Amino acid sequence: MRIDIITIFPEVILPVLQAGILKRAQARDLLTVNVHNLRDFTTDRHQTVDDYPYGGGAGMILKPEPLFAAIKKLEPESTARIIYLTPQGTPFNQSLAEAFSLESHLILICGRYKGIDERVRMKLVTDEISIGDYVLSGGEIPALALVDAIGRVLPRALGNYESAQEDSFSQGLLDCPHYTRPAEFEGMQVPDILLSGHHDNITRWQHEQSLKRTAERRPELLKNMELSAEDVAYLKNNK
Ligand code: ADE
Repeated sequence: MRIDIITIFPEVILPVLQAGILKRAQARDLLTVNVHNLRDFTTDRHQTVDDYPYGGGAGMILKPEPLFAAIKKLEPESTARIIYLTPQGTPFNQSLAEAFSLESHLILICGRYKGIDERVRMKLVTDEISIGDYVLSGGEIPALALVDAIGRVLPRALGNYESAQEDSFSQGLLDCPHYTRPAEFEGMQVPDILLSGHHDNITRWQHEQSLKRTAERRPELLKNMELSAEDVAYLKNNK
C-alpha cells in the first residue's frame, strides 16, 4: 500500500513514521509512506500556500493551485482515495481503518488555518474524515492517526503476539482488562480464572468483561450489534 501525505509541516509527520509498527511495516515493504511539502508546489518567490478568504472573516485558506499541482504530480489512478482531514468529515473508526487498509493508494491532505479552497474538495477530494469533535490546528495529527490505525491492520503488520483481532472495536466491543506478573500487587489479585489454565473459561470471561465494559462506558455501541442469547442473558444478570 502507498500513502502520500501533503502538508506544510513534514517535520511533524516524519519522526512518527520512524518508530514501532509503522517503521516495521515500511521496512517490510507492506507500506510506503511519502511526505510532500506543499510549499514545493508553489511557483512564487515567497512559496505562498495560503490567502485571505473571499467575503472576509478570520483565518487563512490554503490556495488551490499548490494542492492541484501536488496531486497531479502524484499521478493518482482513478481508484486512489484522496482524503481531506477536517472536523467536518465522517467520524473515523476501526471499520474505516480496515476499509482503507484494503486500498492500494491513499493521498492525505493536511489542512491548516481555516481550511482549503472549496474547489479542491469539489474536484479532487474523494473522502473527508474527522478524528473527533474537536478542532486541531491542522490535519497532521489526524493524518498520523489514520496512517497508524491503517498501518497496524495491514495483513502481516502485527506479530502473532499483537493480533488486531482482540483489539477494542475489532469485534464491535471494547477490549477486556489485562494483567501481567506479579499475580499479587499492592494487595490486588489477578482474577483466579486467568491463572486457572482453562482456556475456554478464560475466553468466556474475557468476552463477558468486554461486554460489561462496553455496556458501562459505550452503551451505544451495543445497540448496533447482534448479540447472542448468552450475551443478552449475561448483560441482563450483570446490570
Ligand atoms: N483538522 C482539524 N481538526 C481536525 C479533526 N478533528 N479531524 C480531522 N482533521 C482536523
